[in-house]
Amino acid sequence: MGKITIAIDGYSSTGKSTIAKKLAQTLDYIYVDTGAMYRAVTLYAIRSGYIGKTEDIPALIQNLPAIQLQFVPNQDLGYSEMFLNDENVEREIRTMEVSGQVSKIAAIPEVRHKLVEMQQQMGNGGGLVMDGRDIGTVVFPNAELKIFMTASPDARATRRYKELLDRGEEVSFEEVLENVQKRDFIDSTRETSPLRKAEDAIEFDNSDMGLEEQFERIYDFAQRVI
Ligand code: C5P
Repeated sequence: MGKITIAIDGYSSTGKSTIAKKLAQTLDYIYVDTGAMYRAVTLYAIRSGYIGKTEDIPALIQNLPAIQLQFVPNQDLGYSEMFLNDENVEREIRTMEVSGQVSKIAAIPEVRHKLVEMQQQMGNGGGLVMDGRDIGTVVFPNAELKIFMTASPDARATRRYKELLDRGEEVSFEEVLENVQKRDFIDSTRETSPLRKAEDAIEFDNSDMGLEEQFERIYDFAQRVI
């Protein structure tokens, strides 16, 4: 079939990006982490005082044209990093502060409109693995392969907790679990493109699966379509 579009959606911290990255590297496809884009807009909103201690969503909406997002390839890492108005924000967008606000920002229709349009432009022509919440339902409803990743809240919070500790953040397991559950709730109940499984997506529960096994299975799904 040639180059296809692969959409990987699912709940928070199900390991979507790890699998998506590896799949893209193996297939020599472009990888796009759409969560990073929502996180970068959130970081901008926090820094500008549009969300957090004070809140001014209309001002954020008005200033959306001033937000420039770019994925810049890092040859050493083997994947791209998120740049916000020419600044590398890859680390800063992964903090608990951003995680605590991102679902609120991602529920704003104007924000979604801007980012979905950018995502659709990146994927024009296939050869792409994109992960997020609405890729198979809204961004690329015609993607040739759609995976919907799930895992128990405990398994997800454990993975995320380890990731944050590795990065040197001081957080408690309970705090991480609460954040994961809260984000899933907001993401699944928002009005604009809520998180849900596309009808033609393959549901993939990886609670009890190691990385190798997950990759082998998903790579196999891709091979069958390509
Ligand atoms: O994937 P990640 O956990 O980094 O995404 C952070 C947040 O961005 C999600 O909890 C969700 O609120 C939002 N998001 C979204 N749609 C996407 C990707 C992420 O609403 N396609």
